[in-house]
Amino acid sequence: MVNGIKKIGIITGGGDCPGLNAVIRAVVKTAVNDFDIEVIGLKDGFEGLMKKATHKLGYKDASGILSLGGTILGTSNVANPFRYPCKENGETVYTDQSDLALQNCQEMELDALICVGGDGTLRIAHQLYQKGLPVIGVPKTIDNDLSATDVTFGFDSAITTATEAIDKLHSTAQSHHRVMIIELMGRYAGWITLEAGMAGGADVILLPEIPYKIDKVCELVAGRNKKGKRFSIIAIAEGARAKGGKLSVSKVVEESTDPIRLGGIGHQLASQIEEQTGLECRVTVLGHLQRGGSPTAFDRILGTRFGHHAVQLVAKGRFGQMVSLQGLKIINVSLKKAIDTRLVPKNCDLIKTAKAVGVSFGV
Ligand code: F6P
Repeated sequence: MVNGIKKIGIITGGGDCPGLNAVIRAVVKTAVNDFDIEVIGLKDGFEGLMKKATHKLGYKDASGILSLGGTILGTSNVANPFRYPCKENGETVYTDQSDLALQNCQEMELDALICVGGDGTLRIAHQLYQKGLPVIGVPKTIDNDLSATDVTFGFDSAITTATEAIDKLHSTAQSHHRVMIIELMGRYAGWITLEAGMAGGADVILLPEIPYKIDKVCELVAGRNKKGKRFSIIAIAEGARAKGGKLSVSKVVEESTDPIRLGGIGHQLASQIEEQTGLECRVTVLGHLQRGGSPTAFDRILGTRFGHHAVQLVAKGRFGQMVSLQGLKIINVSLKKAIDTRLVPKNCDLIKTAKAVGVSFGV
């Protein structure tokens, strides 16, 4: 026990991603080893807090999980104490049940809560902190779109998977003289597509931040064909759109903290290229493969550093903070800042470098 803190809870919320178990492991080991603090895992994100669904995380539970993908606690991207579904006269209505969340924390005798998640989870964490709950945030998302940290864990694993996929598409592209399009995740941010596209040697990279001109994309692939490069690889972000065009929405999940699910732009692009150039296109939607599998070494280490630092903040009583990577250092920033989105700046160094080595952004 330190500073009166005997027992803490940990939640993993939002979409899963590689590295979550590295955080859980580091939290448990640091809490138990360094501070003799007990750790309780809440199951399935904030659902576990609302239902008091927990399991005690002892040292043994935290062993052997470092290389596992997903989260041993389960997660949810719909459970939100501030908009919690209840049945009224047979109908589902959403009400603010955050008082119950606080009451449950008290009943479970939790002295602090570590919330590991993306913008949706961290926004809820901040709201709970404003209501008086001692909270620490840990930033996670494959999208890498949180402005208060240089990198989120999960991103490196996602771009590693996406790069391997682009590498594999090259053989069919070359053998069949095709335009191979790969649609990648990232929501409204193009980080995954930009970095995996660069690492995989894509000829065209289309990002949400830079609406593309379809004529330019067609000119580029047709031009390569004429010059004897009879294939092209296009990496397109799920949130990309043509100039003046709309976002391609595949689904609306009403009860989710962020209801819009993007998808479909790769197929739209393929039809347009085939129509305008006569070149044969194929589309790969990489989807949740980007979120799966074992974390890379980078994500295991970042997750471990984040988890360790989170417990140190708990021990110091520095609540309302989120751990963050700034340069090579782990620091803490206000949870309030944690929810600001970070998009790819149009003239950033990565984009300039990609252009310099011949990548087209379709403009
Ligand atoms: O935020 C992570 C992410 O994988 C996005 O890149 C993607 O748009 C979304 O989640 C998919 O959500 P779901 O798992 O609900 O389909």
